[in-house]
Amino acid sequence: MANNKPTYLLGLACFYHDSSACVVKDGVVVAAAQEERFTRLKHDENFPTQAVAYCLAEAGISMNDIDGVCFYEKPLWKFERLLLTYIQEWPRGFVSFIKAMRAWLSKKLWMEHIIRKELGEFWPAYDYRPWYHRFVFNRLPLKQAFPQFEGKIYYVPHHLSHAASTYYPSGFEDATVLTVDGVGEWSTTSLALGHGSKLELKEEMVFPDSLGLLYSAFTYYLGFKVNSGEYKVMGLAPYGEAKYTQEIWDLLDVFDDGSFRMKPEFFAYRYGLRMTSQKFVKHFGTPVRQPEDELTQWHKDMAASLQQVTEELMLKLVQYAYLQYGGKNLCLSGGVALNCVANGRIVREGPFENVYVFPAAGDAGGSVGAALYTYSIMEPESHNLAPVKTIYLGPKNSNSEIESFLQEYGIKFDKILSEEDRAKSIAQHLADNKVIGLFQGRMEFGPRALGNRSIIADPRQNENWKRVNIKIKFREDFRPFAPSVMADKADDIFDLRGVESPYMLLTAHTKAKDLPAITHVNGSARIQTVSPEDNKPYYDIISAFNDLTGCSTIINTSFNVRGEPIVCDHIDAFKCFIRTDMDILVLENFIVNVDDVDKEALKSQFELEVFGDD
Ligand SMILES: [Fe+2]
Repeated sequence: MANNKPTYLLGLACFYHDSSACVVKDGVVVAAAQEERFTRLKHDENFPTQAVAYCLAEAGISMNDIDGVCFYEKPLWKFERLLLTYIQEWPRGFVSFIKAMRAWLSKKLWMEHIIRKELGEFWPAYDYRPWYHRFVFNRLPLKQAFPQFEGKIYYVPHHLSHAASTYYPSGFEDATVLTVDGVGEWSTTSLALGHGSKLELKEEMVFPDSLGLLYSAFTYYLGFKVNSGEYKVMGLAPYGEAKYTQEIWDLLDVFDDGSFRMKPEFFAYRYGLRMTSQKFVKHFGTPVRQPEDELTQWHKDMAASLQQVTEELMLKLVQYAYLQYGGKNLCLSGGVALNCVANGRIVREGPFENVYVFPAAGDAGGSVGAALYTYSIMEPESHNLAPVKTIYLGPKNSNSEIESFLQEYGIKFDKILSEEDRAKSIAQHLADNKVIGLFQGRMEFGPRALGNRSIIADPRQNENWKRVNIKIKFREDFRPFAPSVMADKADDIFDLRGVESPYMLLTAHTKAKDLPAITHVNGSARIQTVSPEDNKPYYDIISAFNDLTGCSTIINTSFNVRGEPIVCDHIDAFKCFIRTDMDILVLENFIVNVDDVDKEALKSQFELEVFGDD
């Protein structure tokens, strides 16, 4: 921190799936967001232009203040893997190789140039005239015609980015860090050790053997989209019986340390556009399910079997990590760490005393990890190891913005400025069995809505389950909802054994018998414990609902419809409200009742005026 100027780092994750950006100031994450929320393109993989613009604005800085840009992987290592895999598989894999090369030649090989050029647009002196205009008429040097970011770019290995994203925010003084995902450059599973500001990779398992890719292969086999449908498979599992675990173990050679080899004859992702081979299909005797085909009991049993194998492999890895490195603390990251059922078992059955999972455990969290790791190298002495206190790191909209928006469209509203009265009013609507779109405060970072961009409802009403799934979320009716529960009452209702789950990353057994809408068929629930320190306005709403009904739990599902990202601003929220069957919309201190809204008129008005399409 020379000259007392803070060190600002810009973290980036992009060009694969779930692009994101963050700004880290002196080791503290001040802003982070996924690009999809701004572009409204689910899992957007493009350069996170809007997320970068937001993070810079939130931090109150420009690119001039950035001391380094931190990218979440080493592009050339990845290129090496693609090339070597193709050479090993030759002559198979020509089509997938060409597809991968096209992506590389258009984007990834020129990654640094693209990053510098894209970030150049954020320079205050950027001239928006086309380059040829300046070049031809003003005869400016080429460098000025293409303003570029000229600062440092740090490339952090993918698994180190994941590991850093969970170790530094955990607040642990030392920890063992297990990262499990599909694949980074070569790594698919890694163990790292964190001590103070130092984080070191110790062991790894490499491509093509990968728990993430095994899960994705079955995601593909069960007719869901790879890299996004995995959580649907997890949601399907409780409806099946784990009858086919032996058939899945037959695909692997598992070793004592939890590592395994995937028998190559069953998997096609090394050389093909499909995940599984013909032999895989023959082995299970059922063809690959197509996305809109019926989900039969067989598919549910297969999901349950895969889930069980995944949990056992994760537990084995955790056990090995403990035997090898000991310690009290475990941090988890990588896409597989979003498997909250496996996480719940690691907490309950694993040997570590404390377990921390970063809420953006997937690739979106890589931007945060890359920046935190770079900071730990740049400023090892002054590294801030305080835990990340909030995951509400995204944008917000002010009351005045919302009021003028509602007035502009002639939308009737109740304005409640007292926080206490607001919480009571929302709770009363919940108790009256209304389904509410809740938009408040800064947006969450990571895939879960944690009370600021959520749809909430009374969990005691069984009909709410189908109603919210089918008429509001327009999604499969088997998908269960998650509960948000007052942290101080959580142990009365769920078998959490004193463990907090503020980021909805653990499942536990539901002790209460009267909460059908949030209890899976196997009696478990994916829980968010809410304390006033985590999110005071949200806690107050649940607490007021508890005062009215004696129920300290509500349904919490993300504020979006199937296929769309979670809403980002108040306009997205309003658009979602009028397109679905919600009863109430809360926009900060304004409450809109569906009975006061002419949805059809607003729909056409909106599409014409706000979104410009027909
Ligand atoms: Fe990853």
